[in-house]
Parts: sequence; C-alpha cells; structure tokens
Amino acid sequence: MIDIHTHLVPGLDDGSPDLKTTMEHLSRAAKVGVKRIYLTSHYFKGHYEYSREDYDRRFKEVEAELAKAGVKLELRPGFEVFAQAGIIEDIIAKSLYLGDSKYVLVESELNGLPPDFYTCVYPLLRAGLKPILAHAERYVSIMQKPSEARSLIDRNIYMQVNASSLVGLYGDKVKTTAKTLIENGWAHFVGSDNHGRTPVESYLDAHTLISSKVDQKTADMLMKDFPSRIESNLQIPYRYVEVIRPRHHRRKRRSWLKKLLRYL
Ligand SMILES: [Fe+2]
Repeated sequence: MIDIHTHLVPGLDDGSPDLKTTMEHLSRAAKVGVKRIYLTSHYFKGHYEYSREDYDRRFKEVEAELAKAGVKLELRPGFEVFAQAGIIEDIIAKSLYLGDSKYVLVESELNGLPPDFYTCVYPLLRAGLKPILAHAERYVSIMQKPSEARSLIDRNIYMQVNASSLVGLYGDKVKTTAKTLIENGWAHFVGSDNHGRTPVESYLDAHTLISSKVDQKTADMLMKDFPSRIESNLQIPYRYVEVIRPRHHRRKRRSWLKKLLRYL
C-alpha cells in the first residue's frame, strides 16, 4: 500500500513531536504492509510556514534513521497546503508537491469549504498542477451534501478520504460521508493522515473494510494503484465509475410516423 498523507516529520507541524514517535509509526506502517509513504507536513501561511531547506533537513534525518533501523519503507517528501489566496507562489517557489510530481495535497476550513475555495485552487489548475482535496469527508459542507465532492471532481480536483474516518474514529457522520464518497466513486485516495497519534492498524482496517463492503478492486485502486501513479506523475482518472441507468428508466421514443400509425 502507498500512504499519501501523514504528518510524521518531527516537530514541523501538529504531527509527530519527535524522531522516536516518527520511527515507531513508520516501523508499524511497514509492518502492516505500507510500501511507500509521503510525509505531508502542514503548510499554512502565518501558522505553519517554513523554508524548504528546513523541511528537507528534517526529512533526511528521518530517512537516515530509517535506514539505520533497517526498516523497508520508501519515504517521499510532501506537504498538505492550506488553500489561501496567492498560495500558488509558495507552492511553486518551495516545490510543495507530492514527491517530484505535479500533485498537490490541499486542505481548507473544516467547518465548510469557503466560497473562495475554488478561486484559491483555480490558479493551481491553470499552472498545470493537480490538486487533491485532503480528508474530503471531514468538511461540513460535504457532510451536508456529499455530491459537492462530485462537483469539485468535475472541476478537476481529486478527493482523498482518511482511513480513520472510514473506521469511525471521527464519529458516525464523518464515517457515513466517507462511505458515501467511496461508494459513489467520489474518492481517489485513502490516506492515513497519521499525526503520530493515529493507530497505524486503522489504515489496514480501512483496506479490509472497503474490500468487504465494496470490493477488493476498489480498495486496491484507492490505496495502491492510484497512489502509485503519483511517483511518475501519471494521470489518474477523475471519473472511474460509470453509472448506467437501468433499462426501465429509459424513456421510449416513438417516431411521429409510428404514433400516427397507432391511430389508423
Ligand atoms: Fe493532514
């Protein structure tokens, strides 16, 4: 599996506080079957603002420690960027991408996506970047109306769902929303969003849950296949579920000639 959303660079955001915690979580992730993991620290102007050099230095420390401990896990740099006006400048100047790709993990206000959310994201799309909305199921506006996710997908924004939401760690409403997004094909990734406190096992539990409630193909697609395409910046389809209307819902159309013949 490939986890595209974690906060395991120590001391940079509200995630893992130290190298020891990071190592514990990375070792457990490798044990439950995670092969590659993106360390996506929050980047939020005015709150979590740092230089790319600072991030890289801490990232390398983790990488060296992991190699020393002999843990087989591929680490990739990444960021979870708060969508704000003008954020495109920082994204480009500091390469706030997932690895070397053009995919960018973005987040917004959980109490409801603000009216200017798309205005903040649109410059990213125009610059050829591929925004992914982090933990889509946790925004109040999407909880109230899950089809808002579909509208965003129609505007070329990918959706990421948290494994911990699926297993119920954020309560019933978030869990139901996460399930709805996946069942409708309105999710492209399942990530852990591990802040150094999340039980790593819930990531594996989410795979098992999707396999049993939807199917294993979908579980693999969201946790292996689609995340694996980020590495080479390959395109991921926005829509991958084709909804076919049952036959009896199709209106029969009779030609005007047939209609006329019926009355003759
Ligand atoms: Fe996060």
